[in-house]
Amino acid sequence: MSERRKTVVLAYSGGLDTSVAIKWIPEKYNMDVVTVTIDLGAVKNLDAIREKALKIGAKKAIVIDAKETFVRYFVYPALQAGALYEGVYPLATALGRPLIAKLLADVAQEEKADAVAHGCTGKGNDQVRLDVSLQVLNPNLQIIAPVREWKMTRDDEIRYAEEHNIPVEAKIKSPYSTDENLWGRSIECGILEDPWAEPPEEVYQWTKNAKLAPDEPEYLEIEFERGIPVALNGEEMDGISIITTLNAKGGKHGVGRIDHLENRLVGIKSREIYESPAAVILHTAHKALEGMILTKDALRFKDIVSAQYADLIYNGLWFSAFHQDLVAYVLSSQRLVKGTVRVKLSKGACVLVGRKSPLSLYSEKLATYQKEDTFDHSAALGFIKIYGLPVKIQAQKQMDILTGRESLHLDSIMPPKIKPVKK
Ligand code: ARG
Repeated sequence: MSERRKTVVLAYSGGLDTSVAIKWIPEKYNMDVVTVTIDLGAVKNLDAIREKALKIGAKKAIVIDAKETFVRYFVYPALQAGALYEGVYPLATALGRPLIAKLLADVAQEEKADAVAHGCTGKGNDQVRLDVSLQVLNPNLQIIAPVREWKMTRDDEIRYAEEHNIPVEAKIKSPYSTDENLWGRSIECGILEDPWAEPPEEVYQWTKNAKLAPDEPEYLEIEFERGIPVALNGEEMDGISIITTLNAKGGKHGVGRIDHLENRLVGIKSREIYESPAAVILHTAHKALEGMILTKDALRFKDIVSAQYADLIYNGLWFSAFHQDLVAYVLSSQRLVKGTVRVKLSKGACVLVGRKSPLSLYSEKLATYQKEDTFDHSAALGFIKIYGLPVKIQAQKQMDILTGRESLHLDSIMPPKIKPVKK
């Protein structure tokens, strides 16, 4: 009795790697291939990609529009969390991976598949994010990563494609590896591997060079509810529209270019360029609004949570209990984050120019230096007396012993003992 032929669900972008995989997996693993092409906001001509998959030999080709899910369950939670990896990268690619893993697992279940496959290499973060997520979502699925396994160079792949009637786009080979979705575009490889080299203009597709951006600045008013943008310039808008509009407006003014020498999960430093106009604008605005509404302690703690949250996303641990714990804190912290922020886009910069909120903790009467001032200046005296008491007593009782001097010398606080490195 012959065994049932197995099925693999392949995440298919339409590019060379995954096109070759449609032929290579059946040869190597003797499985039928079902392709899934997932639109997170950057895939053009979905129908053509579907056709191509079938033409190459997929048993079935599925396309999924996941834009709304992406914004609601991934992008906005990351915005509310203030998640910027190493303080700068808005995590577009990293946020897409757990959703892709989830959709692969869902389709695998529907199709009663035995395996899933993706086109990641063995050197990046994406393989880790997908594999770890898949292991959580369905540990029974075999994971196949052809590019990680087949040891073909790009030229080998092209030869393989030609031998197997796989259409290869005639377009000149780009030296860059890119990935994009609604939240941003990632570019690596080529000349960018030299961290001293200024990125050539050609790597940017979403953003104008600041020099060529309009002279006239553009003002935007972004309204937030519970830390989520709900309206732009007074007009209520859904998430996809807000993000698409801000990507276009920001890009036009050269906003959102990021040059990041980042610490990859696999242990290496890598130079990455990002274009994320909407993410840069929204993070700037969101943080400004929080600054007006959250207390000083809450803000200090939020910074810690933001860094943890960003690491968790970057490191592929989306589907974890720790994430649930962090989300609970973040959502609670966002209950009062309501108000409007005004930013100015000008020559590559997104400048914060105003914020207002019905729940603001800012009091003009307390802050002003004009005659309207209601701050009790005389109370400052008593405050300082008690606030400074511990260091004052320490100075009296201990400092001369600790420093061995009659009076405090600058060297005793800041000893010039650390040797400079000679090279
Ligand atoms: N370094 C970024 C990250 O790990 C972007 C990865 C881009 N992926 C790609 N296939 N070009 O999130």
